[in-house]
Amino acid sequence: MRTKLLITGGLGYIGSFTARSFLKNKSIKALSIDNLSRGNNFANKFSNNYKLDISDNRVRKIVIKKNINTVLHLAAYTCVRESEKKKQKYLNNNFKKQIKFIDNLKNTSVKYFIFSSSLSIFEKNKFKKNASPYSKYKLKIEEYLKKISSNDFKVLILRYSNVIGSDQNGEIGEKNNYISRIVPSFYKNLLDKKKNTLFFDYKKKIFPSRNYIHVLDVANVNLKIILNHQKIKKKFLVLNVYNVNFHSNFEVLKTLSKILKIKYIFKLKQISKLESIKPVYKSGKNIFKYLKYKPKFKNLNQMLKSNIKWFKKIY
Ligand SMILES: NC(=O)c1ccc[n+]([C@@H]2O[C@H](COP(=O)([O-])OP(=O)(O)OC[C@H]3O[C@@H](n4cnc5c(N)ncnc54)[C@H](O)[C@@H]3O)[C@@H](O)[C@H]2O)c1
Repeated sequence: MRTKLLITGGLGYIGSFTARSFLKNKSIKALSIDNLSRGNNFANKFSNNYKLDISDNRVRKIVIKKNINTVLHLAAYTCVRESEKKKQKYLNNNFKKQIKFIDNLKNTSVKYFIFSSSLSIFEKNKFKKNASPYSKYKLKIEEYLKKISSNDFKVLILRYSNVIGSDQNGEIGEKNNYISRIVPSFYKNLLDKKKNTLFFDYKKKIFPSRNYIHVLDVANVNLKIILNHQKIKKKFLVLNVYNVNFHSNFEVLKTLSKILKIKYIFKLKQISKLESIKPVYKSGKNIFKYLKYKPKFKNLNQMLKSNIKWFKKIY
């Protein structure tokens, strides 16, 4: 069966890289639904975007008309910290609208559904008890999808760690005007010689560590799995998307400062109790092993360096 792909959030960070990979590989523009609440118009050239909300009933009509069989569902708000402050906003966009969108796909041509979840739902290899609204709704949508999955509506959950990086040639990259993301924030503060805020656990005296994956590797595995979903026998499968190494926020700042040859200054801030110091992701299969895919970007220096051309262009 030929893949007829819809990407929701196709003008966002991961969506634009994935649409670009699909276009390069298949010479076809994927269909995208993105209301541009957070996306970037410059990504328009990689997909055919309908500027609609995922909860809009017109989405169902488009899916039927275009005979879509595969959906990569990325549209959501993406910030753990923002979700703690704006609970209602996350309840609405990351839960209620998501359910409406999924329900609108029932009894259509869609047979393969890929949901972008997050490894932030874990703490010490268990589902978090005191999860942020962001993580809680990701888990709830996963559970809902598991319940409705069938041989006619196969569901694949991709749990990403922290996605960073840009196209090395500076064609596209990380840009989000609505939330503060670690690498662009550090970059701008270094250039402006401003203090960087580093979250820190005063009690344990440690900086939090995170796992980082490069957006090009994410786009590559997204593409591979989109093109191979039809071969997967299971009606519901969870795959984790993460690298081997973890890095503290301090390491990220130091590495970027070395690349830019600009001295860093920082202040410390107590990390929220809802956030992990160092997450453990043992449950679930790693997609890199599953697909026998070797990530192109393995070390932090390489990932951060990939941003420079792009950041010079936009900042
Ligand atoms: N970036 C990461 O590090 C990361 C990590 C784990 C999981 N994820 C998940 O991957 C997905 C994509 O993340 P991203 O970094 O590309 O985010 P992004 O904000 O760059 O892209 C999301 C896109 O979805 C659109 N959108 C949001 N709500 C919408 C709605 N109701 N209707 C239509 N469009 C809507 C936005 O305009 C935006 O273009 C998200 O679901 C996110 O939770 C991302």
